[in-house]
Amino acid sequence: MMDSDRYDHITGAGYTDEDEDIEVSLRPKRLQDYIGQSTVKKNLGVYIEAAKQRGEPLDHVLFYGPPGLGKTTLAGIIANEMGVDLRITSGPAIGRAGDLAAILTNLGENDVLFIDEIHRLNRSVEEVLYSAMEDYAIDIVIGKGPSARSLRLDIPKFTLIGATTRVGSLSAPLRDRFGVICKFELYNTKDLSTIISRSSGILGVDADEDAVREMAMRSRGTPRVANRLLKRVRDFSQVEGSGRIDTAIAERTFEALGVDKLGLEGGDRDILKLIIERFHGGPVGIDTIAAAVGEERVTIEDVYEPYLIQLGLLNRTPKGRTVTDLTYKHLGLAPDED
Ligand SMILES: Nc1ncnc2c1ncn2[C@@H]1O[C@H](COP(=O)(O)OP(=O)(O)O)[C@@H](O)[C@H]1O
Ligand SMILES: [Mg+2]
Repeated sequence: MMDSDRYDHITGAGYTDEDEDIEVSLRPKRLQDYIGQSTVKKNLGVYIEAAKQRGEPLDHVLFYGPPGLGKTTLAGIIANEMGVDLRITSGPAIGRAGDLAAILTNLGENDVLFIDEIHRLNRSVEEVLYSAMEDYAIDIVIGKGPSARSLRLDIPKFTLIGATTRVGSLSAPLRDRFGVICKFELYNTKDLSTIISRSSGILGVDADEDAVREMAMRSRGTPRVANRLLKRVRDFSQVEGSGRIDTAIAERTFEALGVDKLGLEGGDRDILKLIIERFHGGPVGIDTIAAAVGEERVTIEDVYEPYLIQLGLLNRTPKGRTVTDLTYKHLGLAPDED
């Protein structure tokens, strides 16, 4: 994982070391255990079945959407359902064309190659991918100078699954080579409740229905956040409660973490307050916001904004970000009169 993907906040959707162990155990392995994203799930189920019947690899698939919504998980499920091996790498991890060639030539027939952060592949690596995806072949150059010649090498048929938080940063030739493109949506409270119930079952902790719902409502539409919140509430219930998760212990945890009713934490409120208090509600440019709150622009765009926008607390306009009447109300601030 990249450093830019690590955020320490409880509700930040990025990846931390702690997630690593928990995610392995909580990750669903079969399509039927994968909750929500019903359109993506239904369509992929059909494509997987059809590819299996034909004995062919699944078409190349591109996943895009905010972090923590289950892209990596679904890639693993696809490999499982296809009955093939999964090879995981990421855009920044493949430095040179030769690295990719080595990966591709070592794949088994019909295997799945998962490339996370695929928008961060460099140009020369990306070009190798074109012929690999289209013709299951790569061109390698042998020798140097005038005597150098190019040799075409067949590779096993395979499925590329690419994942990205920023589909707009993908080059058109690469995007066009994916047969299936899936957009991941934020999860609703009902699906997040199901995910939290399932996870608490796996972790062996009892949780009241109301408490599960309270956690779901504060999970920013993101399963990774839901699982992380559940773990923190479990800690509080173990140390300060009865070991069982009820609404009182859940509330106690939210308070300790500074997570409000909508699931916003300090970082979200800093962004919104900045726009209100220093810029009269906006519009204000994203780079200005990033500098003022001390976060990377991509972090604000990929991690903070999707949820704030979905809640109707933030708007992206051509002139910059603005807040809404709801934002003032939620923060208990009086709207600007000018
Ligand atoms: N649809 C889902 N059903 C159940 N759990 C999920 C689902 N999607 C994600 N999760 C949980 O959230 C965690 C983060 O998902 P992940 O696939 O790593 O997200 P992404 O790759 O999109 O950042 C996983 O470990 C898994 O436990
Ligand atoms: Mg991932």
